[in-house]
Amino acid sequence: MSIPSEQKALILKTERGDFTIGPYAIDEPGPGEVLVRIEATALNPIDWKVKATAYLDIIKEHPAILGTVAAGVVVALGVGVTKFAVGDKQGFFTNRLGTFKQYTLIAAEIAAKIPDNVTFDQAATVPLGIFTSVVGLYAHGWECGGVGLTPPWKPGGRGKYVGQPVVIFGGSSSVGQYTIQLARLSGFSPIITTASPHNNDRVKALGATHTIDRHHPPSEIIAEVKKITSGPIQIVYDATSLESTQKTAYEIVAPGGTLILVLPSLIPKEKTSPDKKIIFTYGTVHAPENRALGISLYQNITRLLASGDIKPDPVEVLPGGLAAIPEGLERMKRDLVSGKKLVVHPQET
Ligand SMILES: NC(=O)c1ccc[n+]([C@@H]2O[C@H](COP(=O)([O-])OP(=O)(O)OC[C@H]3O[C@@H](n4cnc5c(N)ncnc54)[C@H](OP(=O)(O)O)[C@@H]3O)[C@@H](O)[C@H]2O)c1
Repeated sequence: MSIPSEQKALILKTERGDFTIGPYAIDEPGPGEVLVRIEATALNPIDWKVKATAYLDIIKEHPAILGTVAAGVVVALGVGVTKFAVGDKQGFFTNRLGTFKQYTLIAAEIAAKIPDNVTFDQAATVPLGIFTSVVGLYAHGWECGGVGLTPPWKPGGRGKYVGQPVVIFGGSSSVGQYTIQLARLSGFSPIITTASPHNNDRVKALGATHTIDRHHPPSEIIAEVKKITSGPIQIVYDATSLESTQKTAYEIVAPGGTLILVLPSLIPKEKTSPDKKIIFTYGTVHAPENRALGISLYQNITRLLASGDIKPDPVEVLPGGLAAIPEGLERMKRDLVSGKKLVVHPQET
């Protein structure tokens, strides 16, 4: 497969600056890595947050290339890679060099083949959303981990938590959609989620047993949850983690239970209770503490997608390739994307 000497990339020249499209070198894969021609990359909230606010000091140097997930075709293999062949349809990765460009590198151990029933566009929606859910539910033992349940792809994990209720705030978000599906595979019941009513059918198709309008006032959301189940709720996953949802979600957690957040806690210390834990989960497979869990997921994700156990997010493809990304990020920032992922095709640039 011929590889050009240069590619086009969406470049952020300075911190909080503007994006420009420009040429960028194509790196050769190092040991254990593959070079992928990107057919689809998805836009995630982290991208607009990093651009607008230098969020969490994630970008260490400029010019920077953002983008954390993509799907494409393997075009070159680094030394020692046996999991892929050139020409494989491959996706599901976070890349140290960013994915808002036409080619990228990824360690083969945290990438997976795309099954025939999943398109490149759909595949690009999977990695960040699902891994954030996976860490919150199945990681344990470190401060940004999770509640340490047994993953449904491990022996004894499937259906292990039958009869235990779970509440998921933001069920129609990407993280929320994957959390509902994993909760279903883990056996939780009822699976109660908040979303806008127009997304009710979607979240129910994924496994939610009850939906609550996310616009209801907190007291009403709490009362509706109590009407659905009287059982103690040990796990509440807040896939939105806005200040308002965090507070409501924390109230719902039973003594001895845990609130899983996807953003840092905004609950004042004096309002917390020693018998209700709060975890801020960190969904990157590049954190050394997450690596083994990530490898385990990537060994199983192709099968979970092929069987339909996990369904990717609905997608909206933005025309215009990489040039469409700034406008797409602006839509996300203004909360104008509901129940789907925005995706672009870098090769169209
Ligand atoms: N910690 C980590 O490692 C990590 C990783 C990935 C993402 N995140 C964070 O997780 C959050 C979700 O990311 P995402 O990619 O899943 O976002 P997303 O899909 O872009 O989120 C959009 C969805 O949020 C829902 N939403 C907005 N406000 C809500 C509220 N008050 N209550 C319930 N739902 C609400 C909307 O639901 P409706 O349209 O149905 O109203 C919409 O479907 C973001 O803040 C992101 O930065 C963190």
